[in-house]
Amino acid sequence: MTLILGIETSCDETAAAIVSDDRKIHANVVLSQTAEHVPYGGVVPEIAARAHLDHIEAVIEQALTEANMRLSDMSAIAVTGGPGLIGGVIVGVMTAKAIAAVQKKPFIAVNHLEGHALTVRLTNDVPFPFLLLLVSGGHCQFLMVKNVGQYQKLGGTVDDALGEAFDKTAKMMGLDYPGGPAVEVLARKGNERAYTFPVPMKGREGCDFSFSGLKTAVRQKIQEIGALGEQQRADICASFQFAAAESLCDRARHALQLFSGHYPNSKHFVVAGGVAANQYLRGKLETLAAEFGMTLVAPPIKLCTDNAAMIAWAGMERFKLGMTDGLDFEPRARWPLYG
Ligand code: KG4
Ligand code: ZN
Repeated sequence: MTLILGIETSCDETAAAIVSDDRKIHANVVLSQTAEHVPYGGVVPEIAARAHLDHIEAVIEQALTEANMRLSDMSAIAVTGGPGLIGGVIVGVMTAKAIAAVQKKPFIAVNHLEGHALTVRLTNDVPFPFLLLLVSGGHCQFLMVKNVGQYQKLGGTVDDALGEAFDKTAKMMGLDYPGGPAVEVLARKGNERAYTFPVPMKGREGCDFSFSGLKTAVRQKIQEIGALGEQQRADICASFQFAAAESLCDRARHALQLFSGHYPNSKHFVVAGGVAANQYLRGKLETLAAEFGMTLVAPPIKLCTDNAAMIAWAGMERFKLGMTDGLDFEPRARWPLYG
């Protein structure tokens, strides 16, 4: 059995996981630093890096205990090598290199986005190629995933990522960071037709996104209303989410057309990244995929937001193909998936 230890420290979760090649997750420990960042309304890089340093060893220890395994049982060590907040990425990479060196195990630097992209193959039977909508706090793009390490971008955001738009909308209404889940919950109590917000890029060619106009419209509406009541908050969340979904589906329609043109026999449309945890958006994309005779596949919610099982699994896919890295690998703040 091949066993991979995965480590993730690129944002505000300190995480370690162990997966095997029979697609079993033996441990998946995620220590969220949310409480430490809430007072600032967002992630503070210096606080995150220090917290990773404080907790990484205990988190790895806990993963080993839960799996009832030792470091020497691992076949290789995988870690997020970027992109992300560089202080945190350095902590993870240093730790993984030290373990790999001491245990004399292969070292694998995983692109965080590839972790999100391939997680679905840990939980579902999804062959290559597939269409991927990657929506997280920092990224928003359509990719054709041809194989491990082989990505082609179809479109992406020209300004904010969708997760960022959720977070900023939440912040404007005084909801705590991270705002995405809070907006989704509040939106369930709201009327999505209460306010008409612009649907970004609707009708435009291609499948790029833009969310800054929507964010501005929400800000203006909030200023116009003044003191927000509970129902108005819920209505704004619902109306924002409605416009975001309309935009996502309009853009996805084009992406599905492009992808089907390239790969008429491929039937999987995957949505991944933190925003893929949103049930409302998933539902809309599911209906759209069906129109194209395709199936929407999303990882289970707890594997959508940052975790280390996704890094361990991407590491597994790389390891199986002999794609390991040297201990001279340098952490990367920026690292696009496509060349
Ligand atoms: O993938 P992720 O955990 O971290 C990044 O790599 O960015 O994504 C975090 C983002 C945040 O912007 C968060 O607000 C958003 O995903 N998010 C959601 C939901 N859960 C997390 N957005 C909308 N609805 C959700 N349920
Ligand atoms: Zn992520």
